[in-house]
Amino acid sequence: MCGIVGYLGKNAAPRIYAALKKLEYRGYDSAGIALLSDGKFTVRKKVGPVAGLKIADLAGNCGVGHTRWATHGAPTEQNAHPHVYGRFAVVHNGIIENYRTLKEECLARGEVFSSETDSEVIAHMLEHSYRGDLLEAVRAVTARLVGSYALAILCSDCPETVALAREKSPLIVGRGHVGLWCASDVPALAEKGMQLYPLGDGEFAVLHGDEAAFYDRDGAPLEKKPTLCDAARDTPEKGGFLHFMRKEIAEIPSVLRRRPHALTACGGFYEALCAAEHIGITACGTAYHAGLAAKYAFERLARMPCEVSFAGEYRYYEPIVPEKTLMLAVSQSGETADTIAAARLAKERGAVVAAVVNEEKSTLAALADFVVPVGAGREIAVAATKSYAAQVLTLDSMAASLAERRGLRGYGDLLKELPDLAEETLSVGEGVRAWVAHFLSARSVYFIGRGVDYAAALEGSLKLKEISYLPSEGYPASELKHGTLALIEAHTPVVAVLTSEALAEKTMNAVHEVTARGASVFLVTTVRACAETPGLAGAVLLPQCGDVFSPAISVIPLQLLAYYVSLARGNDPDRPRNLAKSVTVE
Ligand code: M6R
Repeated sequence: MCGIVGYLGKNAAPRIYAALKKLEYRGYDSAGIALLSDGKFTVRKKVGPVAGLKIADLAGNCGVGHTRWATHGAPTEQNAHPHVYGRFAVVHNGIIENYRTLKEECLARGEVFSSETDSEVIAHMLEHSYRGDLLEAVRAVTARLVGSYALAILCSDCPETVALAREKSPLIVGRGHVGLWCASDVPALAEKGMQLYPLGDGEFAVLHGDEAAFYDRDGAPLEKKPTLCDAARDTPEKGGFLHFMRKEIAEIPSVLRRRPHALTACGGFYEALCAAEHIGITACGTAYHAGLAAKYAFERLARMPCEVSFAGEYRYYEPIVPEKTLMLAVSQSGETADTIAAARLAKERGAVVAAVVNEEKSTLAALADFVVPVGAGREIAVAATKSYAAQVLTLDSMAASLAERRGLRGYGDLLKELPDLAEETLSVGEGVRAWVAHFLSARSVYFIGRGVDYAAALEGSLKLKEISYLPSEGYPASELKHGTLALIEAHTPVVAVLTSEALAEKTMNAVHEVTARGASVFLVTTVRACAETPGLAGAVLLPQCGDVFSPAISVIPLQLLAYYVSLARGNDPDRPRNLAKSVTVE
């Protein structure tokens, strides 16, 4: 949520602008840049994405920028960052939970606020605390903040200087061939060979001239060793596709093919998996759906009890953590605030925690006992697609390893076939384009399935609602008649997923029940006889992938459906309204 950038070096404005554009996946409600030159700030702000921010006349070698996902205050110019007060200009990613109390103090001093944000209070407090030592002022102010923050701060008394602070929101310093940088994430710093220095929680940095100095929570100097930026991974292009989302769906077969990140190579993880007597999975959104799909694999294949929780709920329901629990915290970004908090709590209560992440250098990875990479490659579109397939496969591989270890059955051959099956599904999945017209003005859409197909249905529904803005729900097919059936009327689109031969008859009963009430039913199935059922509004026949690992495959037509409906409704599938790729606030 929100992307911040700071830059020290020649011609700062266009560089900050370009870097901000690469962080728009973190939010695009408004954008702004402040430059410091000759002791004065020049600030430009606008509502909406970064494009169009007027920077042509901005000269200077030191500045900060921000792309916002609004939390406190509507997406207006006043609420856009940077927030300037007195000698300070501040950009902030995170939430200051105690800002009301702090603001009261400032108001009592007679200070006037120009925005409704929680962030502006930081600039006021800095102005009040500053006694000539920038780092000391930043430390004094951050010591009073409750919540999460990554901050980049300019002070008009300190030329060629950017001060930084981090607590629970990511911030990385980069030293390039020219200039010193800071940013919320690596893509903004993706220059081949750039040296990267991630800040840890409670750490500070002061960039001055071409020097970067790092400090711990107590203000003691810190030595940091850089890692080198992998520009090829960190600067993805659309590669001929109109949108990142479509490209990322197309990458699923190659992502699945790259899978062999053997669990044994994850530094003792395999041993921890085998020693566990209980699996917990905690995650949000799409990652949660991947966890649900894997629950079936853990319990069915490996006979291992597995409990899946929404991370944002887990942290507040006083969870019981059974002995020998292995908690799998699943997150594409590794920066989701709720998942991080749930993983911390599970660890405190005695679980061994493994971070199942796409971003290996993330906060979640750093706190976990083990890191299991899902290896999807950088995902840019807000809607998760290839990372879901990679998460499902990674978790299912764990279940398959356990099953083998327990002498139950080997699933190696089935797993090996998945990339080819995904390739085939990509091509048959294009058939959903013919369905789009039925969805364009639907009042609501339902996705149904049973067993593992229910997990896939939930993900299909989430994809559709987040990028098409159509109200959509996922249900177990068995649950319809307990209430939801009342909502089915003539032409209501119902998408049924059916990969389990054993449950085919049951799922088809639900299909007949909704068809009888006028619904237009679209079937995504591996069962030819079901695909040929008269009266269906559409069907995609998937290759035979069995029902054990099927969500990694059956999700593909559902992702394509969401993509084409979104396009047909005139939306930008890569940047759905109100959402951001990394949800770094609670
Ligand atoms: O980075 P994470 O996997 O932790 O993100 C969790 C959710 O915010 C995320 O999966 C979200 O639901 C998807 N972007 C939806 O497509």
